[in-house]
Amino acid sequence: MKILTNKRIILGVCGSIAAYKAPDIVRRLQDLGAEVRVILTQSGAQFITELSLQVTSKNKVHHNLWDKEAELSMGHIEMGKWADAILIAPASANTIANVAEGRACDLLNSVILASDCPLIIAPAMNQQMYSAAAVQGNLTTLTLRNIHIIKPEIGVQACGDIGEGRLAESKEIAEQVGRLFQNTELSGKKVLITLGATIEAIDPVRYLSNHSSGKMGSALADACIEAGAQVTLVVGNIGIDLNQKARKISTVSAQEMHQKVMENIADQDIFIACAAVSDYSIKNPEKNKIKKSGKNLTLTLLPTKDILKDVCALSTKPICIGFAAETQNLTENAINKMKYKGCDAIIMNDVSRDDLGFKSDENEVIFFTKNFQLKMIKNSKQKLGRKIIKLVVEKFI
Ligand SMILES: Cc1cc2nc3c(=O)[nH]c(=O)nc-3n(C[C@H](O)[C@H](O)[C@H](O)COP(=O)(O)O)c2cc1C
Repeated sequence: MKILTNKRIILGVCGSIAAYKAPDIVRRLQDLGAEVRVILTQSGAQFITELSLQVTSKNKVHHNLWDKEAELSMGHIEMGKWADAILIAPASANTIANVAEGRACDLLNSVILASDCPLIIAPAMNQQMYSAAAVQGNLTTLTLRNIHIIKPEIGVQACGDIGEGRLAESKEIAEQVGRLFQNTELSGKKVLITLGATIEAIDPVRYLSNHSSGKMGSALADACIEAGAQVTLVVGNIGIDLNQKARKISTVSAQEMHQKVMENIADQDIFIACAAVSDYSIKNPEKNKIKKSGKNLTLTLLPTKDILKDVCALSTKPICIGFAAETQNLTENAINKMKYKGCDAIIMNDVSRDDLGFKSDENEVIFFTKNFQLKMIKNSKQKLGRKIIKLVVEKFI
């Protein structure tokens, strides 16, 4: 897996001579695995065509805050939520000033304000402009705000001047973006995650199951691996590919998933119960296919073992994080579940909504501990996965 695999980067391109390097920056980010969308400022479009950036990024280039069609679908708020990082390269003195002042004067600046993701700025300008007190003052303001500045290079400039202000090399810019995602918060830690749906046989061809796709568990696994953890996945029925770096243990029924978790939990630091496990299994499933008789058929259901509760009851238990898929009395049910299971945190998602949860690529959750709660608004499961793991590290590691 490359350092920017699964990462969504917005590249802001400003009105600088160095804008001709933007397609190369797009390529370098893609080489590291990123998906790139470009926002081109009006001045930027004087230096580089939308077409070049569209072809290299393989995505529509955005440039207009007042684009009615875009605001219907990928509007500026959506773009802000979509991004894992925003890179401005080349960043003009004008845009640097706008960002420092928090202006929402164009699409790029509006998206920056509408996003909580890291911002990286690679200035490019004439050496005299770069050394101007106003520019340096703005860069200091941005640094104090934890915005990452990629220092320009010293050398011969387009105007013939020699000095500091030349855009850093594209490869170096992409690598610095990549390094921002390098994370060792879970290095040396072992994480076991259950994911997907369990299957309870009724007969050899029919079964009881649910709509879980495994996407949330897979996103959590990616986030743990990115943070340096050794990840074991106890997997039910899923329709997706999983991270190659994870150890996978396939299971079918709730009973089998329980058994595999218990066999592998001893040395784990964190346990995340993300699978949708059946609460009931069929008593004595039929060995042969049940024939249609036209009469009522009664199936007897037996309660399954509670995986999360049993892990929480272990004498040396890992940090235990549960998921609560609820359709009513959401908060109350989630808090009761956390108490009943004895877990350290519970993540509640509302599975009654069509646009979220089970099969969707997006989710919206509330993260509860005994004395803390945080709503994570609708976003991709990948992004939420990272936020959840960051919070787990913050609260428990
Ligand atoms: C030929 C030319 C080259 C320019 N090069 C730069 C530059 O390298 N860096 C910079 O900060 N501004 C440069 N500017 C000025 C910006 O294009 C101008 O401040 C513009 O308003 C920036 O808009 P933006 O920040 O929305 O992209 C240049 C202007 C011209 C006419």
